[in-house]
Amino acid sequence: MKLERDLHMAIGEAEVNYANNSRLQRKALLKTKPVLDRVVRQVCTALLHPTMVVADLGCSVGANTLIFVSEVISTVADAQRRNELGCNPIELQFFLNDLPGNDFNQVFQSLQQFTKSVAAGRPNGVALPPFYISGLPGSYYTRLFPCKSVHLFHSSYCLHWQSQLIKDMDESMAGLNGGNIYITTSTPPSVVKLYQDQFQKDMPLFLKLRHQELVPGGKMLLTFLGRKKENVLDGNLSHIYALLAEALQSLVTKGLVEKGKLESFNLPLYGPSIDEVKAVVARNGLFDIDHLELFESNWDPYDDLDHVGKCRSPRRGMNIAKCIRAVFEPLLASHFGEDILDELFQRCAKIMESHHAEENMNYAVIVLSLSRRG
Ligand SMILES: C[S@@+](CC[C@H](N)C(=O)[O-])C[C@H]1O[C@@H](n2cnc3c(N)ncnc32)[C@H](O)[C@@H]1O
Repeated sequence: MKLERDLHMAIGEAEVNYANNSRLQRKALLKTKPVLDRVVRQVCTALLHPTMVVADLGCSVGANTLIFVSEVISTVADAQRRNELGCNPIELQFFLNDLPGNDFNQVFQSLQQFTKSVAAGRPNGVALPPFYISGLPGSYYTRLFPCKSVHLFHSSYCLHWQSQLIKDMDESMAGLNGGNIYITTSTPPSVVKLYQDQFQKDMPLFLKLRHQELVPGGKMLLTFLGRKKENVLDGNLSHIYALLAEALQSLVTKGLVEKGKLESFNLPLYGPSIDEVKAVVARNGLFDIDHLELFESNWDPYDDLDHVGKCRSPRRGMNIAKCIRAVFEPLLASHFGEDILDELFQRCAKIMESHHAEENMNYAVIVLSLSRRG
């Protein structure tokens, strides 16, 4: 399994692909709309140049990719209509970034229709700012733009992904987590430390790179998975991925997956607490925090009331399993082979459903808005 090649969202059949199974991520985009609106207005009011350069990091594919773009366009159009920006018309240059394995072709093919629907959605007589959209493949843990060239970075549901797999951080540690695939109560402290140390390297690196690329006063709005409790062994992600591990363990028992294969698989992500995020931004010293919040939501993407707590529903297990499959299928297929996927996620759905009835299964999302210092 290679991260740069295999980390992308599922692009196969409609029933299981990310484009059709990203309602969970869409809900976060809608929830953060007021913060985005505020940040966009601040950026365009301070603009010294007629072109505002905006980048979405980890854009993926499907309807979500263009929700952000359309939100920025309509906020700028509204600000211009209300004469909040003086008389200078603004042009928008968008860059959609993701790893090279992302299906950029699908994104490009949807652009013509998108442009038509943005224009059709405006009330009569309201002018839209001219906008231009380009794709930008590459890891956001590397430099993506020239110095001081970007006004606004946005990223939703991405920054919890780490830049390296455990096996690439330290080969000798790869098998130490046993049948776990993420941090749980039975994860050895040395493996927990590896995950935490990687977060302490990735986040400052990301901040340093974006600081170089942002214009003075430029801003970032970052939404990513985190954890509510300080205890790293009791994180929201620990609970859900322990259930995915349970489904994988059941395939080992059935002889469909080799024990060694499971023991060498660890998910390359980390959900930090609010305090960890605050501390890393403060130590880094390159940004001021404008807004920082954590909200909790239900893993069921179709639970629009966002029930917090225990809940039994026959569809819930299936809804959650499909949402997880759309994100992890390429990584799982690369490591375990495609043949196990249907069985794995049927088991996963059953396990999710019964746990959901007995325990609180929420996830925590961190929303962080930053201004470049200097
Ligand atoms: C769950 S998707 C989120 C997509 C979209 N922003 C949304 O809200 O639906 C996470 C995306 O982050 C991308 N990603 C993960 N690590 C990345 C990296 N280092 N550089 C660029 N993109 C990355 C993945 O390929 C994936 O498309």
